[in-house]
Amino acid sequence: GGVTTIDPGYKNTGSCESAITFLDGEKGILRYRGYAIEDLADKADFLEVAYLLIFGELPTKEQLEKFHDDINAQSHVDEDVKKILDGFPKSAHPMGVLSSLTSALIAFNPSSVNVDSDEEMYNAIVRIMGKFPVLTAWAYRKRAGLPLDYGDDSLGYVDNFLKMMFKKPNGEYTSNKILVNALDKLLILHADHEQNCSTSTVRIVGSSHAGLFASLSAGINALWGPLHGGANQAVLEMLEAIKEDGGDTKKYMAKAKDKSDPFRLMGFGHRVYKNFDPRAKIIKVAADDVLNDLGVEDPILDIAKGLEREALEDSYFVDRKLYPNVDFYSGIIYRAMGIPVEMFTAMFALGRLPGWIAQWKEMRQRKEPIGRPRQVYIGENLRDFKDITKR
Ligand code: CMC
Repeated sequence: GGVTTIDPGYKNTGSCESAITFLDGEKGILRYRGYAIEDLADKADFLEVAYLLIFGELPTKEQLEKFHDDINAQSHVDEDVKKILDGFPKSAHPMGVLSSLTSALIAFNPSSVNVDSDEEMYNAIVRIMGKFPVLTAWAYRKRAGLPLDYGDDSLGYVDNFLKMMFKKPNGEYTSNKILVNALDKLLILHADHEQNCSTSTVRIVGSSHAGLFASLSAGINALWGPLHGGANQAVLEMLEAIKEDGGDTKKYMAKAKDKSDPFRLMGFGHRVYKNFDPRAKIIKVAADDVLNDLGVEDPILDIAKGLEREALEDSYFVDRKLYPNVDFYSGIIYRAMGIPVEMFTAMFALGRLPGWIAQWKEMRQRKEPIGRPRQVYIGENLRDFKDITKR
């Protein structure tokens, strides 16, 4: 017998038990492994949080160093991957490039596919943690027409990533503590968010034992959509468009409320949060701080704040419990850091990587069954076959 009820969008369907991330959307609470997101964003660095998500506990100094060393040992990418990247047009969207290259890594690292033992799993994890930032930086450098090379093991994970992104062709790069701290914070805030669209994708692809990299590649594609991670790019494009159009926020508020207009206020609303997205609160403060510290004045920050103020007082948004989400202010920080708008969703992917890994690992270690939802069939009943000459 089939099922008789469905839950489109899985609005009220639990897919698994998980010990990784706790989220209370009514109260606006987010915790990784029991630690408040506010504490982690303030006191930890991204690699510590990655370790926490993946292995369940905050690392000791020694554990963190070993994790970092093991990642660094895997931070080279087969030179032939550059040839694949070469084949992409310069205009290719970095998310398409990243999901393709993550898939391509399977061919270069076949031992990362059938991972059953803890050791094999660990090796696959440090491999992708090492190579993914390289691929992300390459996706950017390809677009920017910059030479592709590798990182600097002497730097922290995030500093090293920034160096891979921004080092000049002559190798020149100066670490900037403000940028490193800001990016650490942003990546931490994006690191996990329980069973969202991309994470559910990673778990369901992984549930066929397709392997970590294949599951991640699928997750990257899921994240790309503008209703999910792609919203950060869409927000900045929207704010730019409003600015170009004379900064008339009221006009865009009206468009967002008009049901005959497909326009939505990007960066607003969330499936689970019916209260302030705690990540948005932290990012809003960080946006002010980072722009101040960098001495950047960006008029779209004022437009964003104006939209937020209006939305929070508008009955359409109030009744539907639509608040700014994580993507509303993040792009303003990325832009101030010199990261172009087409790279924003790739930055989200870099942050979400440990969350995806942790969720995949949990799913495999709990020996979850293959993901296979049912449906309610609404098509034709049995029909007589008609020969092609009689149709
Ligand atoms: N602007 C205008 N109206 C909206 C918006 C918005 N951004 N978001 C939701 N609504 C309305 C929607 O039209 C609906 O109204 P009604 O009940 O009258 O039909 C009601 O609010 C509920 O929306 P929904 O689409 O049924 O809610 P959902 O849970 O299916 O969708 C969402 C959640 C995030 C996809 C949606 O709020 C949205 O499209 N937001 C804009 C895109 C965005 O910022 N996405 C990033 C999400 S956070 C980052 C991440 O984790 O991916």
